[in-house]
Amino acid sequence: MEELLHLKGIVKKFPGVVANDNVDFTLRKGEIHALLGENGAGKTTLMNIVYGLYKPDAGEIYVEGKRVEIRSPRDAIKLGIGMVHQNFKLIPSHTVMENIILGLKDVGFVINRKKVGEEIRKLSEQYGWRIDPYVYVWQLSAGEKQQVELLKILYRKAKILILDEPTSVLTPQECRNLFHALRKMAEEGIGIIFITHKLEEALSISDRITVMRKGKIVATKNAWETSIEELTNYMIGRPVLFKLDKNKTDSSEDFILIRNLKAYGDTGALALKNVNLTIRKNEILGIIGVTGNGQQELAEVLAGLRKAIDGQVLIDGMNILNYSPLKLIELGVAYIPPEPIKYGIAPNLTIRDNLFLKAYRYKPYSSRIFINLREVEKKAEEIIRRFNVVCPNTSIKARSLSGGNIQRLILARELSELINGWKPRFIIAAYPTKGLDISAAEFVNRTLIDYSKTGSSILYITEDIEEAMMVCDRIAVMYDGRIMGVFKPGEVSIEKIGLMMAGAETLTTS
Ligand SMILES: Nc1ncnc2c1ncn2[C@@H]1O[C@H](COP(=O)(O)OP(=O)(O)OP(=O)(O)O)[C@@H](O)[C@H]1O
Ligand SMILES: [Mg+2]
Repeated sequence: MEELLHLKGIVKKFPGVVANDNVDFTLRKGEIHALLGENGAGKTTLMNIVYGLYKPDAGEIYVEGKRVEIRSPRDAIKLGIGMVHQNFKLIPSHTVMENIILGLKDVGFVINRKKVGEEIRKLSEQYGWRIDPYVYVWQLSAGEKQQVELLKILYRKAKILILDEPTSVLTPQECRNLFHALRKMAEEGIGIIFITHKLEEALSISDRITVMRKGKIVATKNAWETSIEELTNYMIGRPVLFKLDKNKTDSSEDFILIRNLKAYGDTGALALKNVNLTIRKNEILGIIGVTGNGQQELAEVLAGLRKAIDGQVLIDGMNILNYSPLKLIELGVAYIPPEPIKYGIAPNLTIRDNLFLKAYRYKPYSSRIFINLREVEKKAEEIIRRFNVVCPNTSIKARSLSGGNIQRLILARELSELINGWKPRFIIAAYPTKGLDISAAEFVNRTLIDYSKTGSSILYITEDIEEAMMVCDRIAVMYDGRIMGVFKPGEVSIEKIGLMMAGAETLTTS
């Protein structure tokens, strides 16, 4: 079978960590090759090397049997390599076509706009998509943006396609659609590297699966000859409990009351049309729904980051609507924001500074003039250990942490009692496990369950129905700025939940 890409002995070191440790990897023509591994295993680093973003410290790269040097993405593109990153790199204020032809001239294309527009439309149809080349990128959903990223690569006739966690931004339907398109691309001879944390996904979409662990390749297997159990073992060296034992008694004491909440979204249309919810003491209330139905706005209003225009939010009987974030923190409200890399950390500050962002102002870390660094360092070390943030020391920049470790850092900052006597009474967790590997996700969920047991009320927003069933005590379905119904896990069929998510049914009980 023809080898499109062959990596030999790739080494890449960062201060304090060997991100790629003598890696050998091959990609064949027409193959979908899944790349698995814990957060920080070195997957993105390896692919950034192939795409010319990082220079390896050692090793060789062969493309179609020829030894190559890839010094920049431009070199990579010329060699037929395309990459869709964890966060999209499109320019929102440009049209689809402008984004696709951007930089093409550099690579030696002559551009005839009308012809290009037509070609893009055709290419899009070929994969079952309906992308209009003349709309602006900001008008597109996450799934459509991803299609544009792919079109951009396909338009350049790439032979090697790298996708870094492509499904973490997609709804179940969009996922199916993507898989369908990827299969088609593979049939046409394109080789695809597919990074994911979802093992079922890897097993169902790929031909071969490679697992990385701490910078090394631990196994490459044909998808048909391996299993979830085996892959988990390769990844983390132990089995993972896919069932979380909540072991809780139902609470009946209402703690958070949300009444007739209304708020605008970023585009100026009503994003929360009329939200009514009750969260009990010790309860994890899940919110599921297709992204963009008001979940984000709800979280922001509750965290004091977006003004509501009407309604009430009562915590233990006290109306806290439109309080400032600082005031809310002091009242025990904790917010775990979505897209932690974008919203959750200051990437250029150290881990310690990120941890203490809010706590610096309080005793015992500061007197009126000085910051007590000894006290800060001691506490930082202790908390980093308790929340399992893997890092050489707390003085490195937060940006160099892997996705999973960034999320652990945010949990540590938002939930630990950095400030004396502070406890989270209400935790708003927006997509807290998105992009996390199975053991990190398990850690986050277990941590939240533990907090619910010790008295916190938690709003848990997710796209993953199964995860909601596992973690939450009750689940609300959100659609178009409203709650379609609330139920206990197992009380309502998946079929019916799907209909509620699409706005076709409501539920009046519970
Ligand atoms: N630019 C950088 N500077 C310093 N360290 C880095 C840099 N990029 C990555 N690292 C470190 O290299 C290791 C591998 O990180 P990488 O991002 O490749 O992991 P990953 O497998 O993609 O993880 P995730 O699943 O969380 O995305 C981690 O320890 C990370 O902290
Ligand atoms: Mg990564």
